[in-house]
Amino acid sequence: MRGAEAVISRGSLIGRDVAVKERIRKTYRIAEIDAKLRRERTRAEARLLHRAKLAGVDCPVVLEVNDFSITMDYLHGSHPEMKAVECVRAGQMLAALHFAGIIHGDFTPVNLMKSKGRLFVIDFGLGFFSHDVEDKAIDVYTMLKALDAKAGTAFIKGYKTRNPKHGAVLKRVEEVKMRVRYAQ
Ligand SMILES: Nc1ncnc2c1ncn2[C@@H]1O[C@H](COP(=O)(O)OP(=O)(O)O)[C@@H](O)[C@H]1O
Ligand SMILES: [Mg+2]
Repeated sequence: MRGAEAVISRGSLIGRDVAVKERIRKTYRIAEIDAKLRRERTRAEARLLHRAKLAGVDCPVVLEVNDFSITMDYLHGSHPEMKAVECVRAGQMLAALHFAGIIHGDFTPVNLMKSKGRLFVIDFGLGFFSHDVEDKAIDVYTMLKALDAKAGTAFIKGYKTRNPKHGAVLKRVEEVKMRVRYAQ
């Protein structure tokens, strides 16, 4: 499993199945800057995972954090098929993250996992803390782009039930859609 920024490997730690996410070197960057960026992103991602868990959102438990790697619980399962229930649940999870001031940064079905019948959010690699309406709207819009209209409606339904301030965010989502349309 290898993305552009990180390598995920499976291992075990004190008898637990773990996933180790290691940020890989970018040789086109100056070594010191590269190390600094990877260290910062690793720390930020671990912090976001931890805060998401405190906000009641299912995500992997962080077990160990090193300079460039995060060791977390391995989720047995796969990316979910986004049927209505999964969409509603994903909406609720994103709303709970937003309520806690957490922006995921890449909220799409490939960054969700279904394990033991539960939905988990993974990959906070592009996440950050913010209460900005625009940041939240982009998170919502990112998922909508990955879903068909019916699934999108279910996702929004879930989002509304968990974010008391959904009105401003969803209004901004409509503006983002318009902006994208006119930019094309
Ligand atoms: N805790 C985990 N348990 C099981 N699989 C995982 C876990 N974390 C990541 N993966 C797998 O590795 C892939 C890439 O991980 P991710 O954190 O999304 O990295 P990237 O930033 O490269 O997208 C995921 O899509 C998923 O299949
Ligand atoms: Mg990912």
